[in-house]
Amino acid sequence: MCGIVGYIGQKQAQPILLSSLKRLEYRGYDSSGMALILTAKNAISVRKAAGKIKVLEKLLAKKPLQGIVGIAHTRWATHGVPNQVNAHPHADCLGEIAIVHNGIIENYSQLKKELGKEGHTFRSQTDTEVIVHLIEKYYSRNVPLEEAVSKAVLKLEGSFALGVISRREPGKLVGARLGSPLVVGIGRGEHFLSSDIPAVLDSTKEVVFVDEKELVVLTADNYTITDFLGRRIIRKSVLIDWDIAQAQKLGYTHFMLKELNEQPKVLEHILASRLKKGVNSIVFEEQRISDEKLRKMRAIHIVACGTAYHAGLAGKYILEELCRLPVSVDVSSEFRYRDLLIDESVLVIAISQSGETADTLAGVREAKEKNAAILAVCNVVGSTLPRESDGVIYTYAGPEIGVASTKAYTAQLAALYLFALYLARVKSVLGEEQVAKYLTELRRIPPQQETILGAQKVIGRLARRHVHFGSFLYLGRGINFPSALEGALKLKEISYIPAEGYAAGEMKHGPIALIDEYRAVVCIACQSRVYEKMISNIQEIRARQGKLIVIATAGDDKIQDHAREIIYIPRCSELFSPLLVALPLQLLAYHIAVARGCDVDQPRNLAKSVTVE
Ligand code: AGP
Repeated sequence: MCGIVGYIGQKQAQPILLSSLKRLEYRGYDSSGMALILTAKNAISVRKAAGKIKVLEKLLAKKPLQGIVGIAHTRWATHGVPNQVNAHPHADCLGEIAIVHNGIIENYSQLKKELGKEGHTFRSQTDTEVIVHLIEKYYSRNVPLEEAVSKAVLKLEGSFALGVISRREPGKLVGARLGSPLVVGIGRGEHFLSSDIPAVLDSTKEVVFVDEKELVVLTADNYTITDFLGRRIIRKSVLIDWDIAQAQKLGYTHFMLKELNEQPKVLEHILASRLKKGVNSIVFEEQRISDEKLRKMRAIHIVACGTAYHAGLAGKYILEELCRLPVSVDVSSEFRYRDLLIDESVLVIAISQSGETADTLAGVREAKEKNAAILAVCNVVGSTLPRESDGVIYTYAGPEIGVASTKAYTAQLAALYLFALYLARVKSVLGEEQVAKYLTELRRIPPQQETILGAQKVIGRLARRHVHFGSFLYLGRGINFPSALEGALKLKEISYIPAEGYAAGEMKHGPIALIDEYRAVVCIACQSRVYEKMISNIQEIRARQGKLIVIATAGDDKIQDHAREIIYIPRCSELFSPLLVALPLQLLAYHIAVARGCDVDQPRNLAKSVTVE
């Protein structure tokens, strides 16, 4: 998705905006640009270029911009090819206003026609450009910039996070949001605007989140938030509890490898912060749905996308086993358009690492219309999803920069285990002793994850022995059927190798036709109720020369009769095994992708947070 940044203060804006843009590179982009109000001439000057930020940097080195108010942008093309003309910022007819935008304006072509008839000239193919001409239309001596922006955005359909400057009011930077995240960085004598927190962390840890349908006016010394009708909103700032170093690679080759290796620490942190020392009480401070209301829930519906959806599928097995409640799971893009059979007796759990995924937000809004209680499982404090939910369980995984989710996935699983145990206790389905037993086992997982990570060099070598396969099949059963889906997603999204996950029991119903010596098949055959069934699947694959990679439990002395390429995980109960199975599958995908020379942290065509439909 696009990234927007803005600065207003006493310092030269160009270097600040450039370094802020670099903090947003992980979001994926194809062009970038910057606009400043030149102090000397009180005019707006724009520099923009297709390609990586370093192209823009060279342009600015040749023709620097001197000014203390500016906006900048990394563009992920949605309308119009990635080129210099379509790059943001975009200006009005007279070059007096400049704007950067993240989102999609769905009614832009109608607006473009109307504005064209009123004499506005367009330079680009973008949807964004209609916004700056709309602002121009409403902007006048008696209408301040923020009012012109309010009038303009009320005409827009779709999603936007905006940064707007005008040479006529050089002491002002205006932001507005609907559907795309926007955050204000609070400085001393300066303020920052950004799509995401890492862009401001070099300068400040104090931020304010701009909410849906809100507008913010920044000056060097102040900020004010209003709704689109100008009504004032007071919102407290929050202090970000992680620093930019955490968002860096800390010596790892890729963010993904760093984050993959952080998983034991993340899980330890989650357990330490959720389980009071010595006792087995499970604490969710931001979970504001009352126990009484939870007791009344007759069913649970989980909604999410991508990796979060796979966590939700595992959540079905977890919640049904521990809470004895029927659980259904939907991808958000389907859920949001279905004629939903949910009401106040259904708890909707929305899972999202970013808290900004458009389909999941839309699904939650649909569910709220039906009076369902909404519980968010989210990794970004203060993002949109938690603010629109009745309660939230933060996953505390820290910033996840790699586009391919790793630590956020196992953190989502951890949140679901803990919530299931909490709910089972609230509903008196589990007694104290049973909960204590499960928690004791859960506490054993982080060192077991460390054991797997201790073997990552061996797993890397095994991965590289399979780098030449043109397609992979991932098979699992029970609670590890979602693990198979997630393993396949990891491989395909960073190595671009076709990979699909399947319920192993489905082999005879189609997929077995795929098996030959050119197909790699990853089988999750750790100790479980269906272990023998997995052995049968493995034998079927061997009989057809499929190339096997098996995930098995340490100490399993039978598995070597059936496979040579084996990755062992420590013994744990089937219920908690997804927390371990995930790691070798992530490492397999990572090392294959690296061996294929892929851009592991910013895979082609993907973005970290899909804030548009
Ligand atoms: C997973 O590796 C992908 N990055 C993607 O499928 C992601 O899980 C999905 O877009 C959902 O994102 P969210 O968790 O931020 O809502």
